[in-house]
Amino acid sequence: MRRVQALAFDDPEQVPELVDALRGAPGANAPISLVATRHDQVVGHVMLSACRLDSQPRLVDVLSLSPLGVHPDHQRHGVGTQLIKAALKAADDRGVPLVFLEGSPTYYGTRGFQRASACGFRSPSLRIPDPAFQVAKLSSYEPWMTGTFVYSESFWANDCVGLRDPELFARIAAQD
Ligand SMILES: CC(C)(COP(=O)(O)OP(=O)(O)OC[C@H]1O[C@@H](n2cnc3c(N)ncnc32)[C@H](O)[C@@H]1OP(=O)(O)O)[C@@H](O)C(=O)NCCC(=O)NCCS
Repeated sequence: MRRVQALAFDDPEQVPELVDALRGAPGANAPISLVATRHDQVVGHVMLSACRLDSQPRLVDVLSLSPLGVHPDHQRHGVGTQLIKAALKAADDRGVPLVFLEGSPTYYGTRGFQRASACGFRSPSLRIPDPAFQVAKLSSYEPWMTGTFVYSESFWANDCVGLRDPELFARIAAQD
């Protein structure tokens, strides 16, 4: 899993370390870690981990979908799409109402996610371009569940929230 994520993100440290941290992190919902295999090799990996929604009536236990990575040699064959589908089903089966992520609105927008700000959710960071902050509403979602999405400590400790590159931020924000 570490290798696939390192290759997918072209990042030998930050993302694999996030995976390790999330797998060991405490939380109301145990982390979900799913792999896609081909000929007994791991070619894709996705994680769901416990985060919170700071809603007016009470805190809501939600999940973050991150990271999602597919081995570069196996991209564009539907692996990412299948991992997202399986992840959302696993979250729904657990009765989790909402799954949040940061990512391409073009990619995730056709795979169960929609723009979170348009649904009444507030981003946890000003460094997340608005179109990239997305949510999937699952079966147990109820309309009162609005508020601020709060990442778990592992995301902050590994500096994996939002974008630090102003040019990349501007490019994604322009996808409005
Ligand atoms: C993004 C990623 C998970 C997609 O996995 P995949 O198995 O290649 O995706 P699928 O085969 O299910 O879907 C392919 C489609 O996604 C599109 N796509 C892939 N990466 C994309 C991206 N970053 N932004 C927008 N679209 C993207 C492709 O153009 C393709 O579209 P097409 O079918 O119209 O040609 C994979 O490319 C990857 O691991 N990328 C590097 C890590 C990463 O960016 N992860 C997501 C972080 S939010």
